[in-house]
Amino acid sequence: MNLILLGPPGAGKGTQAKRLEERYGIVQISTGDMLRAEVTAGSEVGREAKAVMEAGQLVSDAILIRMLGNRLAQADAAGGVILDGFPRTVPQAMALDDLFASRGLALDAVIELKVDDAALVERIAGRFTCAKCGAGYHDQFHQPRVGGVCDVCGSTEFTRRADDNRETVAARLAAYHRQTAPILPHYAASGQLRSVDGMAPIDAVTASLVALLDPLRAARA
Ligand code: AP5
Ligand code: MG
Repeated sequence: MNLILLGPPGAGKGTQAKRLEERYGIVQISTGDMLRAEVTAGSEVGREAKAVMEAGQLVSDAILIRMLGNRLAQADAAGGVILDGFPRTVPQAMALDDLFASRGLALDAVIELKVDDAALVERIAGRFTCAKCGAGYHDQFHQPRVGGVCDVCGSTEFTRRADDNRETVAARLAAYHRQTAPILPHYAASGQLRSVDGMAPIDAVTASLVALLDPLRAARA
């Protein structure tokens, strides 16, 4: 099964993608995570992306399309993917159509997580992540079961993203409305677009996604 998870910053794409990975045995491809790894590694792409990401702008289509093409060529992608953070512009959506066609892949669904702008700022300002395994948490909505200890790997080190501050969130939201929302009609026209209420609690959003995806998987089998 090949899916796109769409939605503004803080909508819950990463949180839900990790759960869908487990349930459906498909891999999350987060272009934000890939870019952050490049920044940490200090690569040429990372050096170019760092300031753009910290300003809440989008990194160039050319870099992202090349990066996604390379990732889709890796063996684990053949078993199904959840794209988290790609495509984010109309040229990226067009390039994805070509990439899928050239690899003989079919897109099963494009799921938009709908969340009000006001809720997003609160979600992003409270987010933190395990420094070792990347598990995501929130100061208010999703604390580790034992305070200060990651539920998944037991690490006691956590990080916050450089772009998770109120000023940058405003720029990221503006970029979403201006550059990413225009790709929705492309998928609505092809009949692939589904919307899920992302304002509900985390488990309820997962339940809505499963209710939508289990029948798709069954139809594929
Ligand atoms: P990226 O890493 O993709 O960030 P984003 O789109 O801004 O989305 P986030 O990761 O912030 O949010 P999310 O939807 O994953 O939410 P999460 O599950 O963590 O991109 C970062 C940057 O990289 C971009 O700004 C751009 O510069 C660059 N980039 C990436 N891809 C690109 C591309 N294709 N083209 C160009 N540039 C690109 O949840 C957020 C918090 O809320 C968590 O703490 C979570 O616990 C909590 N939460 C989640 N769901 C709920 C819920 N239902 N109720 C309450 N709390 C919840
Ligand atoms: Mg994310």
